[in-house]
Amino acid sequence: MDLVVTPAPRLRGRIFPPGDKSISHRAVMLSAIAEGETVVEGFLWAADCIQTVRCMRRLGVPIEEEAHRLVVHGVGLRGLREAEDVLDAGNSGTTMRLLCGILAGQPFYTVMTGDASLRRRPMDRVVVPLREMGARIEGRMGGKYAPLSIHGGNLRGIDYSLPVPSAQVKSAVLLAGLYAEGSTTIRESIPSRDHTERMLTVFGAEVSRGTQWVTVKPPERLYGTKIQVPGDFSSAAFFIVAAAAHPRAEVVIQNVGLNPTRTGALEVLREMGAQVEVIPHGEVGGEPVGEIFVRGGPLRGVRIEGDRIPRLIDEIPILCIAAAVAEGETVIEGAGELRVKESDRLAAIAIGLRALGITVEELPEGLVIRGGRFRGGRVHSFGDHRIAMAFAIAGLLSEEPVMIEETDCIVISFPGFKEALQQLILS
Ligand code: S3P
Repeated sequence: MDLVVTPAPRLRGRIFPPGDKSISHRAVMLSAIAEGETVVEGFLWAADCIQTVRCMRRLGVPIEEEAHRLVVHGVGLRGLREAEDVLDAGNSGTTMRLLCGILAGQPFYTVMTGDASLRRRPMDRVVVPLREMGARIEGRMGGKYAPLSIHGGNLRGIDYSLPVPSAQVKSAVLLAGLYAEGSTTIRESIPSRDHTERMLTVFGAEVSRGTQWVTVKPPERLYGTKIQVPGDFSSAAFFIVAAAAHPRAEVVIQNVGLNPTRTGALEVLREMGAQVEVIPHGEVGGEPVGEIFVRGGPLRGVRIEGDRIPRLIDEIPILCIAAAVAEGETVIEGAGELRVKESDRLAAIAIGLRALGITVEELPEGLVIRGGRFRGGRVHSFGDHRIAMAFAIAGLLSEEPVMIEETDCIVISFPGFKEALQQLILS
């Protein structure tokens, strides 16, 4: 379905972002292999996380859906059973990569696949360390691409330095480490999101950490618990940027996750001159949460590079929309990972920005965006939820309407996005 977004004279109101996608995936997986019941409040009912629920059910885990919560009847670390059919991760890299870690520890055989986008994304980054731990994993192109087949079991702990800063790879190895003989250590030169480490502790696993390493010991059991999923900062970011870049805007984002490994975009927006105020409200389920107040005003170009990239990796599409209406040039470097996300996001952003009248240069691992004005036009989402939502926000800031083609993909992470957008325009 196409979506037409018309320029908004002003933006006002409150946004309750949907549950955090990364945390929702992890909550289902960890509660499935814990003992006893886990209630997950605020679970994200979006296509990606639903795929994780389906996979865990196929592995024999009873999961009940209630209005705003999920009740998972954990089967224990050794209680999963071989699925009768291929597991489908859909569009979700997190489902496939994290589940590979759990499945590497199981004494049975699994085949996992995904949609056309996921089957193009690199899986060797998890296959290589999991093979080193002792799992037998095969896939297309020698294990680079899904479908993947996994013969798990008999793992040994490893000490592994991540070649790319990736929370998904770190998490896959940590989860496999739950089943390994001896402890497993992962080293990362640039810190990536740490939800797995935090949640493992909540479920009773022994995790020790330094600034650039994390070690997990195989526990005897994990314990079912209650998990409160905070609002997703990455979903909130679309509205944070919309408000920050709009001349007449005042928006409050409530109950949003503020994990510092996720909020690099706030620092960048402040450097751009955005008026953003954060009110922390403590922690829920081991994750910091709070409120964010945003007021609109002029923005200036900025450099986005280095250690900061993993802390804002999913926000680059929407930060590019801010850059496009900022004064001066924004340079993004060291973001080659964007080429292997749900789409080649560097290419998708460059094509979309040009279609709306913005001057942009595509670099091998980044972009140079010259701030200007959106003149309106037609862009394509490339089937990528974050590209679709980023250009929807461009429509609010544009001189003429913006039409985004193929926006059904928004359900991947933010099913209520269009309603939230509408509410900000009308309140
Ligand atoms: C995620 C990690 C990031 C992120 C993705 C979700 C996670 O991917 O881009 O949307 O839940 O661990 P990488 O680990 O590949 O960087």
